[in-house]
Amino acid sequence: MHSISANDYELEIGSILDSSFASLLDKYSDVKKIIVSDDNTSEHCVPFLISNYDGLAEAEVVILPAGEENKSLAIVANVWELLTEYGLGRHDLIINVGGGVVTDMGGFIASCYKRGMQFINIPTSLLSMVDASIGGKTGVNLDHYKNQIGVFNDPEAVYIDPIFLSTLESNELLSGYAEMIKHGLIHSTDLFKKVIEQLDIPFELELELLKESIQVKNEVVKRDPLEGGERKILNFGHTIGHVIEGFMLGSEGMTHGHAVGIGMVFEAYLSTKKGKLSQEEFKIIESAILDVFPVPTFSNDDIQSMTALLTNDKKNKGGKILCCLLEKIGECTFDHEISEQEVTEVFLHYKNQQINLN
Ligand code: GLY
Repeated sequence: MHSISANDYELEIGSILDSSFASLLDKYSDVKKIIVSDDNTSEHCVPFLISNYDGLAEAEVVILPAGEENKSLAIVANVWELLTEYGLGRHDLIINVGGGVVTDMGGFIASCYKRGMQFINIPTSLLSMVDASIGGKTGVNLDHYKNQIGVFNDPEAVYIDPIFLSTLESNELLSGYAEMIKHGLIHSTDLFKKVIEQLDIPFELELELLKESIQVKNEVVKRDPLEGGERKILNFGHTIGHVIEGFMLGSEGMTHGHAVGIGMVFEAYLSTKKGKLSQEEFKIIESAILDVFPVPTFSNDDIQSMTALLTNDKKNKGGKILCCLLEKIGECTFDHEISEQEVTEVFLHYKNQQINLN
């Protein structure tokens, strides 16, 4: 078991059966426990936990409908009503078992219910292990706007057990790899290369690589928990990625990682356009990412709708669209102003490439 200190809680990486989870449950032996899960984890992960921990025998299991399109205030309100029916008090415990949607929503449900109660995260997707379950961001989407409503609030503990990765479909696993690529791009060339190599055998993820990626996020968050400055670099790829993902929510959908993958390529393109990232490094990033996360065919109307969503991004300030840019692989800077026009140009660049190919 590998334990990493987060701000005021522990992240434990390795088999949950060897972790401090049992003793944490002992500490909460006399309170009610609610497991927040979704359609997938209630079937594939929750039974494993209940059968291994007597402390969960009496726990109520709340099952959220799976999928980003259900990450809404309406579902959260339903859960708060259910918790009220269960007579849950502020000293009881919520245990979130799931991917990023579950840990974000479950954290938000716990943070606002009766002005806040304790919760722990047991992430079951790679995305949630390396990103969503750590760092204290909780919340829901509002229409097409990603994570528009939410609060910063740390869990009591996070248990990251790679055993759950075997329950994932490959597109879900790849979605998590996008955040690992991001950690490489903002932190070190060496990590970026290792993650790209690992993509050849995604289901055989090295524990060391998982830890290294988690460390990158954890260290940034420790220095800037409330995103006053440096933490913004964790949003690399997300300014454009979020509008793509938000736009796709209305149609066939796209995994978070896929949208962020395209967002990273587009933001790397802008980095080069603005004289930062070298053309050579841009090409390396572009080919590595688009190989896994291709750009779909967007119409001109789609592009217009997506760029319109940019104006309401959380990271904007004073009416300006702010974005992270890469100086080089391994170094990212934040608060760069970009225009709707520049973003439209990137979309058109890739659209025209597709037209040329056909
Ligand atoms: N996912 C970016 C952050 O947690 O800051």
